[in-house]
Order: sequence, then C-alpha cells, then structure tokens
Amino acid sequence: IPVPVFDLVVFGATGDLSHRKLLPALYWRERDQQMPSGSRIIAVARTRFSTAEYIAQIEAACREHVPADSFQEDVFARLAERITYVPLDVSRDADWSALKAALAGGEDRARLFYLATSPDLFGPICRGAGAAGIVTEKSRVVLEKPIGRDLASAIRINDEVGAVFEESQIYRIDHYLGKESVQNLLALRFANSLFEAVWDRAHIDHVQITVAETVGVEDRAAYYDRSGALRDMVQNHLLQLLCLVAMEPPTSMDADSVRDEKLKVLRSLRVIRDGEAVQKIVRGQYRAGAVAGRTVPGYLEELGHPSRTETFVALKAEVENWRWAGTPFYLRTGKRLPTRVSEIVIQFHKVPHSIFPRTAGPIEPNRLIIRLQPDDGIQLALMAKDPGPGGMRLRLAPLDIRFADAFKVRYPDAYERLLMDVVRGNATLFMRRDEVEAAWRWIEPILEAWRQSDEPPKPYIAGSWGPTAAIALIERDGRTWFEDS
Ligand code: BG6
Repeated sequence: IPVPVFDLVVFGATGDLSHRKLLPALYWRERDQQMPSGSRIIAVARTRFSTAEYIAQIEAACREHVPADSFQEDVFARLAERITYVPLDVSRDADWSALKAALAGGEDRARLFYLATSPDLFGPICRGAGAAGIVTEKSRVVLEKPIGRDLASAIRINDEVGAVFEESQIYRIDHYLGKESVQNLLALRFANSLFEAVWDRAHIDHVQITVAETVGVEDRAAYYDRSGALRDMVQNHLLQLLCLVAMEPPTSMDADSVRDEKLKVLRSLRVIRDGEAVQKIVRGQYRAGAVAGRTVPGYLEELGHPSRTETFVALKAEVENWRWAGTPFYLRTGKRLPTRVSEIVIQFHKVPHSIFPRTAGPIEPNRLIIRLQPDDGIQLALMAKDPGPGGMRLRLAPLDIRFADAFKVRYPDAYERLLMDVVRGNATLFMRRDEVEAAWRWIEPILEAWRQSDEPPKPYIAGSWGPTAAIALIERDGRTWFEDS
C-alpha cells in the first residue's frame, strides 16, 4: 500500500533499537519500494560525526540484521541517499537550528519524530522541537516504551509531550501490536463466527499467556536493572495481549473503537494488593545454568552488583466483568527460559460427563493455542478416536495451521508495519494515553508491595521454566502450565 511522502527524524539514531530494528525496517520498506521518492530520514544523536560516518555504521547494522541473501547493495544505496545525520544536544540552540535546516522544504509533508531514546528525554526533546518551530500540523511523534517507570512518571511524560503535541499526533509504540501474529488474533476472533460464540466464562476454563525468552540481559543490564520483567514486559506486551483476548468486539478497526475496548479490560482488572502481591505473584531472578546447551552466567554476574530486580514474573490476573468472571488469565514471562516462545493458550472446559469406558483413557479439555512466535500459527487440540479395531480409545489430535506454510510470504517485522502506520496516520495499533496510564495504575500496587517487602526474587536456574513457585501458582488452582516443547 503506498504511503505519502514523509520526513522521519529519528532521535537516538545510534542506539541499539535504531541499529537492530528501525534502520533494518526502513531497509525492507526500501526494498519493497514502499518509500515514496523524496522522503528523507534525519538521524539524530549526541555523538558528533558526519553523515558518511553514520551511514557506514548503519550499513554494518543492516548487514548484521538483514539476512545476507536479502541484503542488496543498490537498495541500501537508495536508503543511504535519504539519510542526513544531525548531531544534537537538546540544550544547544545551534543544534536545533541545524535540525531545522535539515527539514527545510518539508513543511507540508507528514513529519515524524521517532523518539528511540530514554523516556527521560521525551519531555526535553518535545520542548526543544516546539521551541525550534519544527512541529508542524502534519507532525507526529512516536514514543518508544517504556513510558515512564511508574504511574507518576508516565503522567509527567504524557503531560510534557502533550504540551507540544495533540493526543491525535502521539503514537505510543508497543511493538507486540505490530506483530503479524498478534493482529491475526483480531482476525481469528472477529473474522470468524466460530470462536466468538464460545469466547466467554461459560466455555473457557482459563487463559495462559506465556512470553518466554532464552536471552539474558547481556549488554542491556544497566537499563534492565532499573526496570525488571514487570515493567519491561508485563505492563505493556503481556497486558496488551490480555486485552486483545479479553476485549469486547469493537464496532470497527478504527483506532478509538479498538482502544476504548482495550481500556475497558484494563479497568476491569482486579487490583492485586499488599500481601497478595507478595504471596501470589512469583518473581524470579536467574542464576547460572545452561540454555540450549550453552552455559550462561547468572543475572547478578552479568550485572556485577547485588540486585533485587526480577527477570521472571508469573501471576494470575482476573478480569472482573460478565464475560470473564471466574475465568483466570495466567501470565508469565522471563529471560533465560528453556526456549523462545510466545503463545496464548485458551483452555476450554472439560466435557460435563463422559460416556466412554475407563479403558478409553482420559478426555482432555479442548485447547486453542495461538502461537505468536516462532512459527506463528494456530492449533486446536481436539479429542479423537485412536484408529484401529481395538475398541474405543481416545487421544488428542491437533488441527494445526502454520501461517508460514499457509501463506508463503515473508513476514514483515513489527516495526515495518508500525512505521508505515504512523506515516499513514493510522493509530489503531498504538496505545492511547489513558490505556498506558490504566496499565500503570494496575501495576503500581504490585510495585509498591514489592518495595515494602523484604523478600527477594526467587532464584531459578537459567534454562528452567522459572522458580518452582510459578508451577505452584497455577497448580493451586488445579491447573498446569501448557508446555509443548
Ligand atoms: C522489549 C523488551 O520490549 O521486548 C525486551 O524491552 C524483550 O526485554 C523484547 O527482549 C522482546 O521482544 P520480541 O519481539 O523479541 O519478543
């Protein structure tokens, strides 16, 4: 789909996100000829180097993050032609003037300010851009997560950004919403009549959302230690997934229709307080171990000093409304788990009565497994008769769709989709201010209870599924975590 000509200003252009995600995403859009001619990329960061030096850095990054057989010199050359590097210290007026000069002539275009920086800089950058007179009516600002580190700082940042940009110009990214498989969840729910009819407490026993990573914190330790898994993953990605599973059907794909429904879910979450947060939410921290056959150090060794930051969280969330009362949502996420997998498991109720003899074996409940990554797909576990003349024996038989087999196309990275959505002015997959603040409002009492508690996170061995308490959390309710790998 073509997009209008635009100018994209990336703040934090020498950082990890720009190297790993943003510039490679722009490379792919260039390769697929979706970059309108004349569109410009203005890369901004503090380091003083030339455009040529910056382009050399970005070429290395693209070569690293784009598969070798897809990297084409001519495509990169076209991308490089669009790039100007502007060194900028937010407190120096001369630097802002240089940025203004780089944007000259683009006053009528969509102008995107992408803030791939620490959230402490969101306010100062927006103020600086406002004062420099480079915020036009067609400007939009993209904010990377995390928006703050608690409710108060999120409100402050939102106020600061809101003093320069209208809410309709602000695009808060949660890259999980840009994943093809996450959008497929919307298609599964609302483009099929089959599931929506059974999508409630009367049919669903519980939901599990797992986002497991094999990576540790490595060179992000300094950022991560101030954050932890609850802020880094649960406040945004996992809650967004929960919202998409739990929300009522929006009236359309229009940004506010979808965001209104997600907001209602966030507001229906039962608040977890005090003692409950300490007893019922499992927080863990990895110790040395082995992941996929490789020996890896513990979190504290990577960090180099003592810390109570959690690298794993498991919790039970309850959505208090008519659709979901009594159907818990179990969430877990962690670093250095045995495998990289993100999936949503919808477990239906057991059959109310078995007509089969004991020898037929147990009847497992139906399960719908929405695999987000890797190998995105959907699996529906059904009970079937084991073939053969030996009488009635039952077993689970999966109906399995792997999207890579079903649709033989390259799956674009979330950032490719989201960047182009900003250019088009489509905010459906971005978070509105009230959503972000509602998510923090739910997280805040948990953070507070942890702050008050003397209990450190529970250790777990790298390569395991987290502390044993995470297993106890769900087994207390007579359920188990689903593990297919
Ligand atoms: C980021 C977190 O938002 O998401 C990281 O800050 C995490 O800690 C990453 O590794 C996971 O994203 P993905 O797309 O690899 O699942």
